[in-house]
Amino acid sequence: MAAETGARAATAAEAARGGEIVIVTIPQRAVPDLPKDLFADVPEGVAVVDTGNYYPARDGRIEAIEEGQAESAWVAEHLGRAVVKAFNNIVSQSLLENGRPEGATGRIALPVAGDPPGAREKVMRLVDELGFDPVDAGGLEESWRQQPGTPCYAADLDAPRLKEALAAADRSRLAKYRRHGLLNLTTIITITKYDVSNYGGGQAKFVSSLF
Ligand SMILES: NC(=O)c1ccc[n+]([C@@H]2O[C@H](COP(=O)([O-])OP(=O)(O)OC[C@H]3O[C@@H](n4cnc5c(N)ncnc54)[C@H](OP(=O)(O)O)[C@@H]3O)[C@@H](O)[C@H]2O)c1
Repeated sequence: MAAETGARAATAAEAARGGEIVIVTIPQRAVPDLPKDLFADVPEGVAVVDTGNYYPARDGRIEAIEEGQAESAWVAEHLGRAVVKAFNNIVSQSLLENGRPEGATGRIALPVAGDPPGAREKVMRLVDELGFDPVDAGGLEESWRQQPGTPCYAADLDAPRLKEALAAADRSRLAKYRRHGLLNLTTIITITKYDVSNYGGGQAKFVSSLF
């Protein structure tokens, strides 16, 4: 992947100490395998981003999430560190191809939810620099609104429509959203211009290409 994207390969510990924003972009099931002290001496000002999505078919059943814990709150618990959920509701091909300058008509908006607020603001600036309208979606506890299958999931909405979609998400339907999340995503990818063969690994490749 490093050869393909131009990124410099490093250990997880080196990556965690590599800059102002650290992006964790691995399958949900792999998060507990990361070193327990990964962020132990990483300054509080460093923002930790979680791009992850929980798909039981891929990740196995995670009881706490099935019982209602927000996916990124579960990640934060395992990392021992607050995280900001971002880039999880957009297909990597769209992330690569659909960024537009600020003010462009129809610019896609991305929700950014997480803690602490200073980290959220930092990630919002990154979203903007990458060509998307950042929408403040609240703290980590609100991050369920952008999980798989919710109204904003893989929908490539502009900012006003994204805000409506976040507000329309219904927590009592989380399990239903989840059941349909992967199916909907596959359908969206299949019936639109996106190439399903690009999905796996796409987010990690995109993140690698940033550095
Ligand atoms: N692809 C997309 O379009 C997309 C969009 C939105 C959100 N997401 C979410 O973003 C996350 C990453 O997506 P992806 O498509 O890039 O996933 P992926 O290809 O399945 O995994 C990305 C990387 O995770 C690494 N990894 C796997 N197990 C690991 C472990 N135990 N410790 C450390 N690294 C490990 C793998 O490294 P090695 O190759 O070295 O094993 C792989 O390169 C997932 O949660 C996914 O649901 C993806």
